[in-house]
Amino acid sequence: MTLLVTGGAGFIGSNFVNDWFAGHDEPVVNLDALTYAGNLHNLDALRNDARHRFVQGDIGDRALLDRLLAEHRPRAIVNFAAESHVDRSIHGPGEFMRTNVLGTFALLEAARAYWGGLDGDAKASFRFLHVSTDEVYGSLTPDAPAFTESHAYEPNSPYSASKAASDHLVRAWHHTYGLPVLTTNCSNNYGPYHFPEKLVPLMIVNALAGKPLPVYGDGMQVRDWLYVGDHCSAIRSVLASGRVGETYNVGGWNEKPNIEIVKTICALLDELRPDAGGPYARLISYVKDRPGHDRRYAIDARKIERELGWRPAETFESGIRKTVRWYLDHADWVANVQSGGYRDWVATNYAQR
Ligand code: NAD
Ligand code: DAU
Repeated sequence: MTLLVTGGAGFIGSNFVNDWFAGHDEPVVNLDALTYAGNLHNLDALRNDARHRFVQGDIGDRALLDRLLAEHRPRAIVNFAAESHVDRSIHGPGEFMRTNVLGTFALLEAARAYWGGLDGDAKASFRFLHVSTDEVYGSLTPDAPAFTESHAYEPNSPYSASKAASDHLVRAWHHTYGLPVLTTNCSNNYGPYHFPEKLVPLMIVNALAGKPLPVYGDGMQVRDWLYVGDHCSAIRSVLASGRVGETYNVGGWNEKPNIEIVKTICALLDELRPDAGGPYARLISYVKDRPGHDRRYAIDARKIERELGWRPAETFESGIRKTVRWYLDHADWVANVQSGGYRDWVATNYAQR
């Protein structure tokens, strides 16, 4: 028994792989291209662990996929690999189409060929789990009900359009070829190993460095926040017991406007690492909005709760406190990612704001 995990050196994928071995001995082959977002330090705890095999490579590389599937004969593929940052997709959508659309296509085709050659129980129990996002559903008005699994796909950014395309491919490979797929659509995650280009870690590391905290537009855009460990437990539940061909929305019933997230982080830092210069909220700086910025996301998680008995373990209060503490305790990790490509990206994104 082996899992093939893709994108397992990124934020959620590395949390998933690390958490996996807390509860399982089943080996993981971890295929990751190590883009700017992939960081092998996220997997330091597994450095000498024979259950974990890291392979640097691209999900679009069909020959590599065929070789890995033939060699390791996984019972499931869990696909995290993606370009994941909306702002980057606005500045340069090409990579998003290449990895999220064509990469998923290559992975589906490799999985189909491999699965087609399996027999009996191995064929019946094989799963292709595709990790997707709530952003495929587009934006909600303030009073609209939260996204259910039957909400229309209305992606608004190059990122969400590329994820929507990948979800459609996954669905079609099940409908047409019978590939046993599962799809999860999760809300905004936060937690350890989150690359500091995204809201939560960016606010923590900027505040600690005494830099401005850039809030897009009026800061009243609403996201539905889930601690990353809870997303990982949801994926394990869907992998173990999800109904083939189904999609599951994953979220923590935790809608909050961005400005509230930023102020919560500032208050926690005031408590845990007070700054002689005054409260961290003095650094909040409203900047030009993201083009096409979705106003509100909210996940209706009743299906996964009802069918699989999944529930988040963390409240927002406990999860965000853990997260802020993690960043305070891992200044070395932050310093490491704040080199090279990351610094170039910060210059590109904020120069004209
Ligand atoms: P991330 O950007 O932190 O990590 C992505 C990983 O994929 C990196 O390790 C990167 O090196 C790897 N990768 C990129 N292109 C690749 C390629 N062509 N071949 C192999 N590996 C490649 O992303 P994340 O936040 O961990 O998100 C993981 C998945 O979860 C994505 O599919 C994303 O759409 C989805 N998701 C993310 C969130 C969130 O809040 N971060 C919420 C819901 C869903
Ligand atoms: O909803 C799930 C999605 O959540 C995932 O699919 C994406 O991969 C993930 O990146 C995330 O997308 P968002 O665009 O919501 O995340 P981000 O952290 O980039 O932004 C969160 C909100 O904060 C969003 O409304 C934009 C705003 N923001 C972000 C940054 C980086 C700011 O106000 N200032 C900033 O500097």
